[in-house]
Amino acid sequence: MELVRADGVRLYDADGNAWLDFAAGIAVNALGYNDAGVKQAMLEALDTGLIHVSNLFRTEPGERLADKLVASSFADRVFFCNSGAEANEGAFKMARKWGKAEGGVGKHEIISLRGAFHGRLFGTVAATDRPQYRNAFRPLAGGIHIHERDLTELARVISDETTCAVILEPVQGEGGVRVLDTGFVRELRALTTERNVLLILDEIQCGYGRTGTFFAYEQFGITPDLLTIAKPMAAGLPMGAVLLTERVAQVMQPGDHGTTFGGGPLVAHVANHVFDRLSDPDLLAHVVKEGKWLGAQLEKIKQRSPKLRAVRGRGFMWGVDVTDPAKDVVGRALEQGLMIVSAGDHTLRLLPPLVMSRDDLKIGVEKLEAAIG
Ligand SMILES: Cc1ncc(COP(=O)(O)O)c(C=O)c1O
Repeated sequence: MELVRADGVRLYDADGNAWLDFAAGIAVNALGYNDAGVKQAMLEALDTGLIHVSNLFRTEPGERLADKLVASSFADRVFFCNSGAEANEGAFKMARKWGKAEGGVGKHEIISLRGAFHGRLFGTVAATDRPQYRNAFRPLAGGIHIHERDLTELARVISDETTCAVILEPVQGEGGVRVLDTGFVRELRALTTERNVLLILDEIQCGYGRTGTFFAYEQFGITPDLLTIAKPMAAGLPMGAVLLTERVAQVMQPGDHGTTFGGGPLVAHVANHVFDRLSDPDLLAHVVKEGKWLGAQLEKIKQRSPKLRAVRGRGFMWGVDVTDPAKDVVGRALEQGLMIVSAGDHTLRLLPPLVMSRDDLKIGVEKLEAAIG
């Protein structure tokens, strides 16, 4: 299978075979394909002649995007980069430097949770709970530990003296699409505040509208100290960002961290357009309404098929546990003309573009049921 073009929520090969997209390039293509607004934004950016200048200089699209992100969130500052893992690596460095300023060299440990996925770069893979991603690269970066999603254990290990940050995905993605319990997240926020430890939220997959609010944390009634985003930010152009409070940002000095490409004017101009579209209340209401409908349909399949064991998710982000190996079901779905991804050996992950209509969701659900068997 080799893809040659895409339009709306469908992708095509050279023979004209079509696939309905329930994967969105792993949660990137929130606006689908061949979108007129995205195309227009790209052309406008090209017209300036300014594709890249390095972040030694300010550009209007980058400043405008940073202002929007700050105005719509807990954050005072934004650092732009090029991918999700790079955003988390940046957040780890900022947390480390803050920890040392706050409590000396001993306050450097980063705690991550069971089931987490934070990336595959050298620091982030140490915070990622997947043996097959980690084992070949041991010894991993030090001072990063994974603990159970259990408040008693976390209360035992989170220390004012040795911990600088806890990182979590409000909705775990690769780890099987697990919506973290609201009470758990709130208590963890309270615990980290009490012990003067930073809370980093990784919303690289679950943020930017995917679960029905622009930021997932809005549904948990908390605010973090740092937050990372990436995937859908620039409609498929590589972009990531760290959002942070002034209290953390003030420890970072010029030269402490950097990037050559991050936040360039072309990607930032496109990202401004994406921000406006994905923060539109009508789009978010669509994700909430159709997401509920999608979840209800998956529950109905569960009642009909003994091969579907569990359904989890929110908005346009769903995980489905199946008895067959997930890769076999993904293969059968492709044969049915449906693109899905997995999240573990027996979990399917459904991530349709956020603009998908009820009619197309319905077609996808029918194909999915056939593929599950
Ligand atoms: C929650 C989360 N964090 C981090 C990453 C890493 O992002 P990237 O692949 O852009 O490095 C991903 C990618 O799937 C992710 O889902």
